[in-house]
Amino acid sequence: MKSIFTERRQRLGANLPPNAAIVIAGASTQYRNADSSYAFRQDSNFWYLTGFNEAEATLVVLTDNSKTAKSIAFVPEKDKLKEIWDGYRAGPEGAVKDHGFDEAYNNSEINDQLPELLKGCDRVFYPVGKNAGLDQNIIEWIKTAKSKDRHSSAIDIADATSKVGNQRLIKDPHEIDLMKKACRISAESHVEAMKFVKPGMTEQEMEAFYLYEFAKRGGRFSAYTPIVAGGENACVLHYVENSKPLLDGDLLLVDAGCEYDFYASDITRTFPVSGKFTDAQLAIYEVVLEAESKAIAAVSVNNNVMDAQIISEKVVTQGLIDLGILKGSLDDLHAKGAFKEFYMHKIGHWLGIDVHDAGDYMEDDQFMQFKPGMVTTIEPGIYIPSSANVDDKWKGIGIRIEDDILVTPDGNENLTEFVPSDPKEIEALMA
Ligand code: GLY
Ligand code: MN
Ligand code: MN
Repeated sequence: MKSIFTERRQRLGANLPPNAAIVIAGASTQYRNADSSYAFRQDSNFWYLTGFNEAEATLVVLTDNSKTAKSIAFVPEKDKLKEIWDGYRAGPEGAVKDHGFDEAYNNSEINDQLPELLKGCDRVFYPVGKNAGLDQNIIEWIKTAKSKDRHSSAIDIADATSKVGNQRLIKDPHEIDLMKKACRISAESHVEAMKFVKPGMTEQEMEAFYLYEFAKRGGRFSAYTPIVAGGENACVLHYVENSKPLLDGDLLLVDAGCEYDFYASDITRTFPVSGKFTDAQLAIYEVVLEAESKAIAAVSVNNNVMDAQIISEKVVTQGLIDLGILKGSLDDLHAKGAFKEFYMHKIGHWLGIDVHDAGDYMEDDQFMQFKPGMVTTIEPGIYIPSSANVDDKWKGIGIRIEDDILVTPDGNENLTEFVPSDPKEIEALMA
């Protein structure tokens, strides 16, 4: 039986012209300092197409005029001493046997072999501009390929980003299972965090709590650096300092999601440190919640990706008018973008192996229609820093609510609904 990875390479090949190559580089080991490395994380495209989790590997998929594409891997060579220090290496033999490549070579052979493979290709796809080393190597390999054959025609370079990205955009059943698991782990962790938090704790302690809850359920890594923001820190959209005390009366915004078997989850909840929302916090919260639920309802095959955005902008604008924070008519204020002072980011993004996942948002110059198998976040927010020109009671409130939504043939499924977003349910959980 073909592995899911072999099947993905075949699907990619079927989507390339004949006589083409696509070159995808795996990730390199990254160092924090001296020879102390970060935990290795494979390049997402490379993982998607190979399931091969060693550093410094390269995949080439070649098409000709036949129906099946050929895949060739370059991998670290077997090395007893290196394996004692850093762990098992498959080597070319193991790569062919366990990963279904048609051929595999040691990395030391890449500069000889790659030009041979590219000779006779009309076009080489690779992720242009993502990795300076690969940009340079591709040019050199093409130059060498052409010098080997004086009668060769041009070998064009094309960007592979959309080719692989748009394949990743529609999740297969295997991916959906992994994403459901990642989402469930993160949702359970948010529930535990709501029960755990108390005034006097710190953002740092809560961050550690989340990482522990993720890891003990099998999600060792965060899909992104968690944002653990007490009080007004929530108004800093990418706050990752996570070091301040949590005060009675403040809200805590936590944007945290684990990665499970390479797949991301991405959840934000905003809850009161003391367990009870104040009236002002609740008033803003209800607006964000309405924007979120109406935007989620718009995630369906009948709509395009911009519909949820516009709906959320209108709900936020109307809510801010009702609270006296914005003054004017809905249509006028929406047309002017007045909401952007308080809701300045987009409604969401694709989710998958990357938290901000690969895949285009436009198709034929139009916003893309949702299709079954896509997963998007929906994450409206309202952020009112103390510098805003508003009544004092609103100052310092920052609220975002974020869920992960799978598009299904007849609507959608909220993969993160296990963690409550209803304020009454949150208060009950925290009581
Ligand atoms: N956690 C990153 C984001 O929500 O986009
Ligand atoms: Mn997000
Ligand atoms: Mn998030």
